[in-house]
Amino acid sequence: VLTNSLTSVGLGPALGMAAVPNAVIQKYEGSFFSFIKGVLGGDLQTLAGGPLFLLLNKYFEVYGPIFNLSFGPKSFLVVSDPVMARHVLRETSPDQYCKGMLAEILDPIMGKGLIPADPATWKVRRRAIVPSFHKRWLNRMITLFAERAEILADDLQPKSAKGQVVDMEERFCSVTLDIIGKAVFNYDFGSVTDESPIIKAVYRVLREAEHRSSSFIPYWNLPYADQWMGGQVEFRKDMTMLDDILADLINKAVSTRREASIEELEKRENEDDPSLLRFLVGMRGEDLSSMVLRDDLMTMLIAGHETTAAMLTWTLFELSRGDPGLLKEVQAEVRTVLKGKERPDYDDIVAMKKLRYSLIEALRLYPEPPLLIRRARTEDNLPAGSSDLKSGVKVLRGTDMFISTWNLHRSPDLWENPEVFDPTRWDRPFNNAGIPGWSGYNPDKVSGLYPSENAADFAFLPFGGGQRKCVGDQFAMMEATVTMALMIKKYDFDFAIPAEDVGMKTGATIHTMNGLMMRARQVNENEPVQSAEGYWEMQHLKRGLNANG
Ligand code: HEM
Repeated sequence: VLTNSLTSVGLGPALGMAAVPNAVIQKYEGSFFSFIKGVLGGDLQTLAGGPLFLLLNKYFEVYGPIFNLSFGPKSFLVVSDPVMARHVLRETSPDQYCKGMLAEILDPIMGKGLIPADPATWKVRRRAIVPSFHKRWLNRMITLFAERAEILADDLQPKSAKGQVVDMEERFCSVTLDIIGKAVFNYDFGSVTDESPIIKAVYRVLREAEHRSSSFIPYWNLPYADQWMGGQVEFRKDMTMLDDILADLINKAVSTRREASIEELEKRENEDDPSLLRFLVGMRGEDLSSMVLRDDLMTMLIAGHETTAAMLTWTLFELSRGDPGLLKEVQAEVRTVLKGKERPDYDDIVAMKKLRYSLIEALRLYPEPPLLIRRARTEDNLPAGSSDLKSGVKVLRGTDMFISTWNLHRSPDLWENPEVFDPTRWDRPFNNAGIPGWSGYNPDKVSGLYPSENAADFAFLPFGGGQRKCVGDQFAMMEATVTMALMIKKYDFDFAIPAEDVGMKTGATIHTMNGLMMRARQVNENEPVQSAEGYWEMQHLKRGLNANG
């Protein structure tokens, strides 16, 4: 059923767009029934016998950093090379590549919001949105993060006292939804402590978006699908409910607008409502059409919620199942930095480096999303990078592309022990691969709070890179640092099911299969944590490096 080649892999008949040599046939690895179910349901994951990014990882191991994947009439160039990724994301003009299939799928939800936006719309909106994430605002958000994390910590207490099992993945989704609701449009979902039809609508919309992104049949475009098709009728109702709420919030903000320059807006420290909506509405010259604002706000609600929740989930998972010495050391850091303090401030976040690097290491192992999607708007030529295609790869106009962050982040050519959760790796340089044009990772190039794509020369793309890089990266890292700090300051966590049973499935972000079921044990936060193991130092000594990295 599958047609593969040295660099061309097919799900169904191979109709590759880029010309690829040396076709060979390889057997489909899932069962026949799962394949048929996948075809009928239009579901790529079933067709692939599991999450698509895992299948692409297997092909990466066999076919290398660039190959073509085809299924039915669709075809994708799959890129897992830092030099090629850097070229596409940073070295081409923003007009060269668009979001292609992703924009088509997300259109009913995000419209022309920043993530799916076409290049012309994107240029205007990016310029408007970036100033709203200014430094003072981010500082102010730290208080919001702490308030919301405290509500979560308090809510855990009775369950902890009774020894009840808690799904920490669900808890992290709730706290990040509450945070993003307040930050983006000053709306309190209250989802940590309550359930409401609105919260359920948000989650159903998210699940539908994920299902669409893993489907190769656009079932939602069938005639009148939203009138008769199970799931689609509900989707329409959910979207109407969310749109009504957004319209109401936008109208209220517009009607109480106080127009000002960006500099003036940045100084409005005592504003009751510090939301992004309030900032955008206040901007002199800003497009106040409710459609533009609606699309951008909806985009940030969706982009800034489960991504951060997933980072928290996988960090707690990895810290809990890894070397106990590492967890103890991170806890010791948190409890020392926050000793006698209720809430962290910016300097505390800076001081909690081991925690920050643990979070970033979780993003290496579980990138959200695991694939970036692009479509070439004009012809291009990718550099050869680590491939053996000396003259590079010609990309035809219209070619759809997956840049596999999962493959990049776990490539044995680019990382030492790539499958191991080791936050100390970010303290030392690496470049074993000798890839022409790739400079490796250099800790001296880490600017700001965490290692980013630039320090790793595009082998690490936790927030993408280049022009379309995430606008919420600092926000998300600080949010996760504060939330996790307050969790592990107050509680120790034990798995309620074996770590191997947590499992993994994916949509736009990587979820657990069965929840992160844990028991939280309240601890005496003022008691020093014994971290005699000195995990961090040992890791460095093992590599013959100075303990202080
Ligand atoms: C873009 C990841 C949090 C808003 C992106 C991209 C990635 C990403 C990989 C690039 C997508 C691409 O190139 O196709 C993450 C992760 C997060 C996170 C892992 C949390 C751990 C947030 C937050 C917000 C946000 C909190 C908003 C408050 C956006 C927006 C874009 C974006 C608006 C589009 C930027 C553009 O195209 O100009 N994000 N994100 N993200 N993200 Fe995030």
